[in-house]
Amino acid sequence: MAGGLALEGLRLEAGGRVLVDGVSLALRRGEVLGLVGTSGGGKSLTALALLGLLPAGVRRAAGVLRLDGAVLDAAGQAALRGRRIGFVQQAPRGGFNPLVSIGRHFRETLACDGLRGGAATARAESLLREVGFAEPAALLGLYPSQLSGGMLQRAMLALALARDPGFLLVDEPTTDLDLIVQAQILGLLERLVARRGLGLLLVTHDLSVVARLAGRVAVMQAGRVVEEQPVHDFFDAPRHPHSQNLLATHFALYGEAAPA
Ligand SMILES: Nc1ncnc2c1ncn2[C@@H]1O[C@H](COP(=O)(O)OP(=O)(O)OP(=O)(O)O)[C@@H](O)[C@H]1O
Ligand SMILES: [Mg+2]
Repeated sequence: MAGGLALEGLRLEAGGRVLVDGVSLALRRGEVLGLVGTSGGGKSLTALALLGLLPAGVRRAAGVLRLDGAVLDAAGQAALRGRRIGFVQQAPRGGFNPLVSIGRHFRETLACDGLRGGAATARAESLLREVGFAEPAALLGLYPSQLSGGMLQRAMLALALARDPGFLLVDEPTTDLDLIVQAQILGLLERLVARRGLGLLLVTHDLSVVARLAGRVAVMQAGRVVEEQPVHDFFDAPRHPHSQNLLATHFALYGEAAPA
């Protein structure tokens, strides 16, 4: 069975304010779903809800999460986090403990699956090689502050894949990176999806990222999904005024280049 990760009727509240409402999304293995929309629309909170990892003060008032059809409760979500669903959060530096070496980040994650010592080191090096580090052994002794933004993003991807998840949620993977590094990260994500058959939720405000990677696009505005379409239909004929605005702004800034 193809199976997948699905969110149905998500509603998130904080202090009586509704932040996300009626959001349903489905992500199948091997596909890339782009989640776009202007700042504050609820993209990151929706991704965090898929992980069952909401910030303090934000409450899930409604909504069901399913994996391959089965409803997941809080304990089920905690068990799957990292193991079945990998996560790369917005601003990768924040995902690392600055006082802990890259190697220890891997050792702690791999220990969850009983991998220790030489076996853990070999696995960490193989993961780092997979994301493009030619000399992974040297990297393991470094601290997060010694890595550039692009290196951190790649290391974070390797860490998110350490337990072989079927799904990966990445939040703004290219923000704050220069154009060359952005292109490298996008190429890497493309290869990882193809090689591993990952279901990728790609949260971004950058429509050129969506054009390059996504098969489908969901657009969020003010806490709701206002449109969901295959990527080519979205670029050819966006239905919702908010999508039309996003596209008009994008083309005004970057020209009318058609999506690949
Ligand atoms: N911890 C929190 N407590 C209360 N409100 C929050 C919290 N985190 C986010 N919000 C609010 O929820 C809404 C959605 O935020 P979210 O971070 O999901 O937006 P976003 O679409 O990811 O935006 P951006 O593109 O800027 O990353 C915003 O109004 C935000 O202010
Ligand atoms: Mg966000």
